[in-house]
Amino acid sequence: MSDDTHKNAGDSAASSAPSESNPDISVRPARDADVPGLLRLWDACGLIRPWNHAPTDIAFARRGPNSDVLVAEQGGALLAALIVGHDGHRGTVYYVSADPAHRGEGLGRLIMDAAEAWLVARGIWKLNLLVRKSNLGVIGFYKSIGYGEDETVALSKPLRPMPHVDPEAVE
Ligand SMILES: CC(C)(COP(=O)(O)OP(=O)(O)OC[C@H]1O[C@@H](n2cnc3c(N)ncnc32)[C@H](O)[C@@H]1OP(=O)(O)O)[C@@H](O)C(=O)NCCC(=O)NCCS
Repeated sequence: MSDDTHKNAGDSAASSAPSESNPDISVRPARDADVPGLLRLWDACGLIRPWNHAPTDIAFARRGPNSDVLVAEQGGALLAALIVGHDGHRGTVYYVSADPAHRGEGLGRLIMDAAEAWLVARGIWKLNLLVRKSNLGVIGFYKSIGYGEDETVALSKPLRPMPHVDPEAVE
């Protein structure tokens, strides 16, 4: 069975919905055939890190019911994408990306709107996201679409070796 059939049936929050501002752009869950384009987009956006294995991240996000990869596509070209998911309490997003050739055209807002709708459709009422200190310039984008800074410090702890990753490259 193709991974394309694993879920998303009846997913009205992000099922090939055309963008209101540009009806030629569809926002939908990623398919198997999107993976090479996703990797190209994330590479062009500077989001590929040696300590994360993006193909594994895509497969993992698409596997379960509480996460997915959403894409905005026009004529077969991936213009924006992200991973969205929730942990039963809060929602989050990763790999938020818009084609560098089309920045400032509303693609980032479009794909974030789709992520928010995906979460709301699953009963989630708040989205937390992380921004790397090396990428603080992007905070203006998030503020423009309604996000505020919390008085929190993000902590993390690896729980097991990451799959398919060179341990020498792990941060
Ligand atoms: C962040 C990103 C997705 C924004 O995509 P985009 O398509 O250019 O964003 P939009 O056109 O939808 O912009 C939405 C609003 O944010 C503003 N905005 C976008 N990027 C901004 C920035 N770097 N600084 C300040 N404001 C910004 C826009 O002016 C617009 O404001 P408006 O609605 O008031 O006019 C894109 O720049 C990107 O892919 N960056 C590289 C990857 C990245 O850093 N991802 C985030 C990881 S945390």
